[in-house]
Amino acid sequence: MKKITIFTFLISNLLLANTRTAEHNAAAEKFYNWHFFENGRGMSISPNLSKLMWMLGADNRDGPLGDSEAGATSFIERRYGFIERNKKLMGVFKVKYKNMEIGVLGCTACHSGKAAGIIIPGLGNKTIDPYKVGRDTYKIQRFWGSRSSNPDYKYIYNKAQHFAKITSDKKISSLTRGLVPDSTIKTFFYEDQGLPYPKDMGRAQVKVPHLWGIGAKREAGIFNDGSLSGDNYAWIFGAELFASDSGEHLRNVLPQIKWLTDEVLSKLLPPKYPFTINNALAAKGKVLYKSSCLKCHGPHHLDAKKNPIYTAPKVIPKNKVNTDSEKLLAISPEFVARVEQSSLSDILTFNYDLVQKGYFAPKLWGIWSRFPYLHNGSVPNLYQLMIRPEERSKIFSMYRAGDKHRFDEKNIGLTLFTKNEYAKMLRKAKKGDRDIYFIEREGQSNVGHFIKGFEKFTKEDRLALVEYLKTL
Ligand code: HEC
Ligand code: HEC
Repeated sequence: MKKITIFTFLISNLLLANTRTAEHNAAAEKFYNWHFFENGRGMSISPNLSKLMWMLGADNRDGPLGDSEAGATSFIERRYGFIERNKKLMGVFKVKYKNMEIGVLGCTACHSGKAAGIIIPGLGNKTIDPYKVGRDTYKIQRFWGSRSSNPDYKYIYNKAQHFAKITSDKKISSLTRGLVPDSTIKTFFYEDQGLPYPKDMGRAQVKVPHLWGIGAKREAGIFNDGSLSGDNYAWIFGAELFASDSGEHLRNVLPQIKWLTDEVLSKLLPPKYPFTINNALAAKGKVLYKSSCLKCHGPHHLDAKKNPIYTAPKVIPKNKVNTDSEKLLAISPEFVARVEQSSLSDILTFNYDLVQKGYFAPKLWGIWSRFPYLHNGSVPNLYQLMIRPEERSKIFSMYRAGDKHRFDEKNIGLTLFTKNEYAKMLRKAKKGDRDIYFIEREGQSNVGHFIKGFEKFTKEDRLALVEYLKTL
């Protein structure tokens, strides 16, 4: 009898342990295959242009063109920063609609990425360059399909061209690959009221955030500063919004957004650190974390099966951390008023007490994979987050940032330029090279997050903290 009880206990424990992993795997697969194209609305390119998508590398390599398709896929991967998975570009779909074939973009074009060569569901894509995608698509579409008189075709064509044009507007787009400008979403609220959007509204460039733990975070507010309410899930549709012609699209898909957030995104687990961890050093780092970091970032508790217990992060007042303010200023009184007067004011709501207050001290689950660090991706590795801003790297490469050879196991994050390369790369950065992160560009400053007490850290302390962070 006793034996049977122990046996059942063991089995049920095993099942529990596997449940969250199984849920994670199922969620990842659903997310990889998800998009919100509906009734001709959503992020898409011009109809039937997708028939040429072998050129865009979206088809698998066993097609009629064999190896040249493989070449095209890796060309697209390099140029625009999409991620290749199972020989296809992630987040790129072909959808049949009214006898047309539409090339559609899904969430995972931005919301799944690679770190140290490993594809991670829910990690922000470090290499995506929306500006370049928009600019090239706009140019191609000017010739492709602009003369069709079929109204269904015209409808999608015009929207696709509008989407490409806004994405590639030099005044509001991001300046470096891997950064996505929130300003493109803001354009929706001007057009919704028949107004031109102001060209001087800034860019609000951010790295694409990780999505594991979003279920718990949503209750505190979403995005980097929490000023947008997660209560009714509607802001989560942000990226799609400006690709649509009216708020009706959002209203129609809201139940699906809720479902996707609660049943898919909230089930994702952080990626485990794939290389070795020095446990003794990590234990030392944990003590330092408690004294220097816990008060803002909070605890990271595990359940009995060593899975994370997600909790909401809290917003830290801006003068305590002093990181770049471009993104905070983007939620301006003028923008808040626009949203309040828009056709979606009942579902897109604010946490007024958090508007321009500060940034979340994010939970650090899977932090080893989330480089470059801070909301604007301005710090290339974890070690540098604990040294003075003026000693941090001014430039670093975002080219193939998720590849294995770009991963620095010691400092956790991106490899840096060598002394020999540096002068040449700095010249390129100054000329605007989009592959190079340059902290002197607008919104890309690496100031802040050098907090009182950090000046006492020795090199060994910092390495111990880095070691501890690998365990999260
Ligand atoms: C063009 C790239 C892009 C696409 C496509 C995209 N997102 Fe995002 N998403 C972002 C960025 C950038 C942010 C962060 C904005 C901020 O914090 O200011 C974000 C934020 C989020 C958040 C909030 C995360 C947090 O920590 O608060 C959720 C949830 C989310 N997106 C879900 C989705 C879903 C679902 C889709 C598909 C409908 C999608 N996104 C499509 C770029 C994208
Ligand atoms: C005073 C509050 C505070 C303290 C103390 C603090 N942090 Fe932070 N931390 C923040 C805030 C706020 C952010 C987000 C800033 C931003 O993105 O602009 C942040 C960001 C980070 C990030 C980047 C997260 C990402 O997704 O890019 C890491 C890693 C981090 N902190 C680690 C630490 C460690 C390790 C310590 C202790 C040595 C520490 N922090 C101490 C407030 C704090």
